[in-house]
Amino acid sequence: MPKLLNKNYYLILIISAVFGISFWIGFNVNLLPPEASINAPIYDELFKILFIIGLIIFIGMTIAVIYSLFKFRKRKDQFGDGIALEGNLSLEIVWTIIPSIIVLIIGLYSYNIYDRMGGMKELNHSHEMIDSSTEKIWAGISQASNNEVASNNLSVEVSAMQFAFLFNYPKGEFISGELHVPVDHKVSMKMESKDVIHAFWVPEFRIKQDIIPGQPTILNFTPTKVGKYPIICAELCGPYHGGMRASIIVEEESDYKDWFNKNTKTEVSL
Ligand code: CUA
Repeated sequence: MPKLLNKNYYLILIISAVFGISFWIGFNVNLLPPEASINAPIYDELFKILFIIGLIIFIGMTIAVIYSLFKFRKRKDQFGDGIALEGNLSLEIVWTIIPSIIVLIIGLYSYNIYDRMGGMKELNHSHEMIDSSTEKIWAGISQASNNEVASNNLSVEVSAMQFAFLFNYPKGEFISGELHVPVDHKVSMKMESKDVIHAFWVPEFRIKQDIIPGQPTILNFTPTKVGKYPIICAELCGPYHGGMRASIIVEEESDYKDWFNKNTKTEVSL
């Protein structure tokens, strides 16, 4: 049966091409904004894998649909109904098992990524701003990046309200509408909402954390790239939710200190 062999050969060729193209696009086409924090490359690893899986399915399905449209189209002399097909156990087993395995792998990998981003850390230990244990702090991302100078953390208190973010620098005793941070320094934020649920999202940092009334949340991050990035509220919080934005300005340490000293009432550095 040389014909059957031929058919399988083409099928293997097409499947290999679909995988090859998907991997090539996945590794060479970047749809995400610049990576500007330690978290970003970790997160993007997961995105790449999901993107490649999506591409394999999308390209494969498209080819199958187009092939079927031509191959199984109605011919001139055909007038009857198609064959009555009802169930195919082996096929159903295959298309249940394959997605199950994919979902399981993605689940385990996501857990691993979240853990590497610090999502599984006990937050109460690392955060200096939380004085007493009377306060219940909810989870958040807390990078444990190679134990860098914990005392050197920049602490900022974030207040969210309809429809703005305010940033309190406790060491400088001032409040700012813009979040200024020094590059390559760990920033530790304690976030509270004055009214409804908001969310602090910086796409370039690949971080997003809810801000909940009556229940402070913590978010730690380390910016790695100087620049100005948008802070976007990512939780529908009222009619002007879409306008609830602020900016984060990542600066060289000296520029940050200048800005800080210009605003502070007390003369402390960092
Ligand atoms: Cu605050 Cu949406």
